[in-house]
Amino acid sequence: MEKINVFCPATIANVSCGFDVLGLALDSVGDIMTVEKTKRKGIHPITVLGQVLPSIPSKNVAGVAGQALLDSSDYEGGFDITIHKKIKPGSGIGSSAASSAGAVWAMNELLGRPFSTLELVQFAMQGEKLASEVAHADNVAPALFGGFTLVRSYEPLDIIAIPTPTELFATVIHPQIEVKTSDSRKILKTKITLEKGIQQWGNVGGLVAGLFQSDYDLIGRSLQDHIVEPIRSILIPGFDAIKSNAIKAGALGGGISGSGPSIFALSKGEETAKKVAESMHETYQNIGIPFDIHISKVNTQGVKRLN
Ligand code: HSE
Repeated sequence: MEKINVFCPATIANVSCGFDVLGLALDSVGDIMTVEKTKRKGIHPITVLGQVLPSIPSKNVAGVAGQALLDSSDYEGGFDITIHKKIKPGSGIGSSAASSAGAVWAMNELLGRPFSTLELVQFAMQGEKLASEVAHADNVAPALFGGFTLVRSYEPLDIIAIPTPTELFATVIHPQIEVKTSDSRKILKTKITLEKGIQQWGNVGGLVAGLFQSDYDLIGRSLQDHIVEPIRSILIPGFDAIKSNAIKAGALGGGISGSGPSIFALSKGEETAKKVAESMHETYQNIGIPFDIHISKVNTQGVKRLN
């Protein structure tokens, strides 16, 4: 195989309580990438369609992630990468992660799968480092593994794939303001109290248990963030109203998607997810900022090949 087209899913990182450790992949939103083997060595200038992003490989997340893979490979040739960018950068649904994960997944397929999914996560994290100054894995892990993932440890990297209850749907509203992950990380406090730690790890445990047991009420009770959301939500106009109205419309719970500005809610069943979308639409139309809304099943496959 010389050339491959792939779908690279958008992702919701943090999932409220799990800052930098929890994430989930979406089905209905993602980038499309074409990756082709070339005789000429290295990653060649990247073609980006749909958004203005750097083409120089060392300045493009897909180029940096791809180069990390090449540095660990004995492959003598190179790759051409084209990204059909469908996820807006700075939207909070893992735009940089999709391109990073898609590039390394596609390259690995073209090389005959020499690397494990965990190794691909490590390469893709280099793209995240370029985008946000921190090599976090909570977007690239679900993009590559699919479903929900938990980064149990960064050193050594230990990622747990968590089962997805079949009726779980996400509704995501993307207010069209750009929030750079690097900026929204700088405003966070680096120390927390023991009291907040206790609340937070109780919720992380509860969410993971709820996902394993398909206990939707427990999932809902656990979607609480006492550490990051109170600080970051100030950057997102209408956050409190969106979240409380989504819960009134039947959502299990919700929060900031990644570093924002997108806001997500999880629901049991597509009907409820649609009602939540209507409530988000109604709430946001008076705020005066353009927005998109996505309703999506959780994507349990991760990056996948397209015909
Ligand atoms: N965990 C990262 C953050 C995700 O919240 O900064 C960024 O998408």
